Amino acid sequence: MGIKFNENTREFHLYNKHISYIIRIIDEIEQVENVYYGKKIRHRNSFKHITERELRPSCNMFKGSYTSSLEHIKQDYPSYGTTDYRYPACSITSKNGSSITDFQYKSYEIIRGKKALKDLPATYVEDNEEAETLEITLVDDVIESKLILSYTIYKELDVICRNAKIINEGDEILFVDRAMSLSIDLPDSEFEMIHTTGAWARECHLRKRKLVEGVQSIHSLRGASSHMHNPFMILKRPDATEHTGEVYGFSLVYSGNFLGQVEVDPYGISRVMMGINPYNFRWKLNKGEKFQTPECVMVYSSEGLNKMSQTYHKLYRTRLARGKWRDKERPILINNWEATYFDFNEEKILSIARSAKELGIELFVLDDGWFGKRNDDKSSLGDWVPNLVKLPEGIKGLSKKVEDIGLKFGLWFEPEMVCSDTKIYKEHPEWVIHTPSRNMSHGRNQFVLDFSQEEVVNYVFDSMDKVIGSSEISYIKWDMNRYITEAYSRALEEDRQGELFHRYILGVYKLLQKVIDKYPNILIESCAGGGARFDPGMLYYAPQTWASDDTDGFERLKIQYGTSMIYPISAIGSHVSAVPNHQVGRVIPLDTRGNVAYFGTFGYELNLSTITDKEKEVIKEQVRFFKENKLLLHHGDFYRLMSPFEKSETSWMVVSEDKSKAIVGYYKGLSKPNEKYNRIKLKGLDPNKLYSIEGREETCCGDELMNLGIVLSKDYTGKFSEYYERVHEDFMSQLFVLNEVKDI
Ligand code: DGJ
Repeated sequence: MGIKFNENTREFHLYNKHISYIIRIIDEIEQVENVYYGKKIRHRNSFKHITERELRPSCNMFKGSYTSSLEHIKQDYPSYGTTDYRYPACSITSKNGSSITDFQYKSYEIIRGKKALKDLPATYVEDNEEAETLEITLVDDVIESKLILSYTIYKELDVICRNAKIINEGDEILFVDRAMSLSIDLPDSEFEMIHTTGAWARECHLRKRKLVEGVQSIHSLRGASSHMHNPFMILKRPDATEHTGEVYGFSLVYSGNFLGQVEVDPYGISRVMMGINPYNFRWKLNKGEKFQTPECVMVYSSEGLNKMSQTYHKLYRTRLARGKWRDKERPILINNWEATYFDFNEEKILSIARSAKELGIELFVLDDGWFGKRNDDKSSLGDWVPNLVKLPEGIKGLSKKVEDIGLKFGLWFEPEMVCSDTKIYKEHPEWVIHTPSRNMSHGRNQFVLDFSQEEVVNYVFDSMDKVIGSSEISYIKWDMNRYITEAYSRALEEDRQGELFHRYILGVYKLLQKVIDKYPNILIESCAGGGARFDPGMLYYAPQTWASDDTDGFERLKIQYGTSMIYPISAIGSHVSAVPNHQVGRVIPLDTRGNVAYFGTFGYELNLSTITDKEKEVIKEQVRFFKENKLLLHHGDFYRLMSPFEKSETSWMVVSEDKSKAIVGYYKGLSKPNEKYNRIKLKGLDPNKLYSIEGREETCCGDELMNLGIVLSKDYTGKFSEYYERVHEDFMSQLFVLNEVKDI
């Protein structure tokens, strides 16, 4: 791995074993040109031969020159209006109202390792040998400001991280109207764009579309990354599959309003950009002030989508998530939400906890409804005082009793919200986000606290601290259940209102960090009405996220499959819930519900004190199985084998690093008569190893399992009665556990 600088041609080559990223400073124009990004190519002392300057009718920067049009140069952080008419990466308005900028190259620095981003989540290194960073400084003399573009390449991961920083070094005030984290011009448009689409309870459904001329984009303007689009985009070659071909991933480490966009121009160039959504964004920069963009993480794979996912999984699991829980085995939890909703008292909770303990479950999580007068979703958010009618000894007493049963105790908070019947709302109406003289829209009867105000963040911290500090709390579920409307902060000056959405998210990060600093041993699971803030920004603070409020095992296949595109299995909150399922009314066998939830953080969300003895036995076995295989499921290499977006079956698997163990999940939709033959071709095994498959007599070699596959249809020769006795059911699933057979 390294970053080479060709001094004569002013070219930078960032490379590791598999990827190359080459940029140059354009002569005379002095801006950054993108020369190449893709599979590793050898280093040359000059890449001048890779220069495209066609003669085209256009506006040119210099008199007598016909090839100095930025419209026809592939750039890395373009501005608008100096011969380029495509969407720019940045736009800054100066005192005279002009938003023309011309940042020109001044210097570069190559740094071992990777710098942290002030107040923002970002990937990191533990040792400076893991990555190298290039910082390019450009200056616009007219507006006296600096632009610093940062590029980090990891040694062992095919990752380039980018961010940008703008510094006002002049006397005049500047307004940053747009500052993307990344922009890159790829030389053609032979791509399909993959992204997610969704809504509450059906997050992360994958969509694929061919790139066409014009702009195609995903975005959020809701104050959170949102259920609608997760902040990632993938460009894949049309012939690329899960396991072959060229794929580029772009993932934004941010939890607020974002934009991901690809603009294909008439010459086939694809301009990809990602960052804070510029709509309604305006950041005032006084003299000496800086604006730092969030980080965007690019992954290149020449081995299909799955390899790209594995790179993101490893990076986000080990170099984005932090703290004690990053590598530690996560507890199997029972959450009372779908078991009781708001209708509980101490005895009901303790009875669930006692049953959970009998079954081997490790953590009890008390969800919404433990505070104030909250018996439905109309009241009390913001007053984090235990409800002594439901819980006579408060959270302190309850948590102690749960610990005495032998479980750890976890608690739900929704720190960013407030209901109008609370003390905090009545005493501080100015702490609520709301435009004066306008209607105040509610979402689930609640309003959003103005986290751009430090005072508010500190107040909420103190109220949480009172509860956490006086009880035995090992886990927090950090929920957020509505988007921002009528955005306006009463604490910001009028020319700073465009900063609110970003400042809000910075406030959320600040509060999370305060909680982590004081309680580093607490495991935080983030949640936003399910997956409305399932993003890399939150993963920096909370290593797991509740993926969706839809707990139906069949619906979950799509949600978890889509989420796995970028996020590690150890981050995907998944529970076994009751049937008929509360969201869709579907009845799915208990073992299938477990087989789906294993490929996530794993836990339960049903009333364990009212289930049958037979169900208890199944759950006991599920808990035993998950405990035995937690580390493999969470730290192993994940492979997608059959897509629920393409057929009615789904399959995926994990393989241990040494390839000695693997677990394969296979799931069916509706049961079919007289079914066709079927096999699952596995991935990632050692072709030369011999594997046993638990529950089957035969042993198979890795090459057989990967090329011929696991044979799903049975050999009924001489077993007629078995054939007639077999069970037919909708939503059946099978789990195959493979172990290397060593002594043969
Ligand atoms: C939304 C979450 O996604 C649910 O799991 C639950 O915690 C409810 N909020 C509680 O109000």
